[in-house]
Amino acid sequence: MADETDSDRLKEAADWLRSARHVVVFTGAGISAESGIPTFRDAAGLWTEFPPDQFATWQGIMAVAAKSPGRLARFLIALLEPLAEARPNAAHAAVAALEKHTRVTVVTQNIDGLHQEAGSSRVLQVHGTLLEVVDRTGQLVRRLTRDDLRTIVARLRRMTDQPARSVLLPWAIRPMAGLRPRGTYRPRIVLFGDAMAEPDWSQAMEAAEACDCVLSIGTSRTVMPAAMLPSQARAAGATVIEVGPDACTGDICLRGKAGDIVPALVALAHK
Ligand code: APR
Repeated sequence: MADETDSDRLKEAADWLRSARHVVVFTGAGISAESGIPTFRDAAGLWTEFPPDQFATWQGIMAVAAKSPGRLARFLIALLEPLAEARPNAAHAAVAALEKHTRVTVVTQNIDGLHQEAGSSRVLQVHGTLLEVVDRTGQLVRRLTRDDLRTIVARLRRMTDQPARSVLLPWAIRPMAGLRPRGTYRPRIVLFGDAMAEPDWSQAMEAAEACDCVLSIGTSRTVMPAAMLPSQARAAGATVIEVGPDACTGDICLRGKAGDIVPALVALAHK
């Protein structure tokens, strides 16, 4: 049989999506790339300049804060500035639109809040979110807006040029992390070595068992346990559709950018 063409694969994926009763949309940094947020492991990814062993664990971050507060400030600017300016893109919008036609559970590894901003109503943030600040017990201290992130970035930019930067760092990040009379507070994010965000992760596993189709978008599938979700769903009988520029392990591989493929797929499935 001649090789399947991209349009054959898109049509096959649309047929699965149309017939699904419950779709889990599993997303990674790639779905937000076209909103201006760098991914982690691409050539210009965040971990390229800021190695995860120093910047993706709480211990590593505390060590950098003590040794080189200016470098921590530069990392935080690289992390927060794109999130402060980001808006949902066409892929986020298409995922939200899918809810008009079928039951959708979004399981995202992202901490940028863009699925909710695009209108998705059921979003499980298995790696937490930068837009919520919690105390040591996990209780909500405050929600952050993109304006709050802008304020923090402006303060960090001002302090990176100051000699007394180690003193200024706590002031710059005070809206999102620090010490108050009742103890420390920080963003509700999951770093390496942390437990997954709950109840989101337990609900994500339940959704993986119950769904009949997984639409995996923009993830390198390298970080466990989140990355095992699509294979968990497939083992329970779901079909896995994968969207991204890289090699693929899904049942149906749609190669390319999320912002191009996902709107076309949803439009074809529910025209
Ligand atoms: N459209 C679709 N996919 C894209 C796009 C795009 N425009 N641009 C990049 N990608 C793909 C890349 O090819 C890559 O496969 O998105 C994926 C991003 O992979 P990672 O950078 O590893 O991001 P992610 O899979 O979300 O990482 C998982 O690792 O460091 C931790 O906690 C962090 O949640 C993150 C987790």
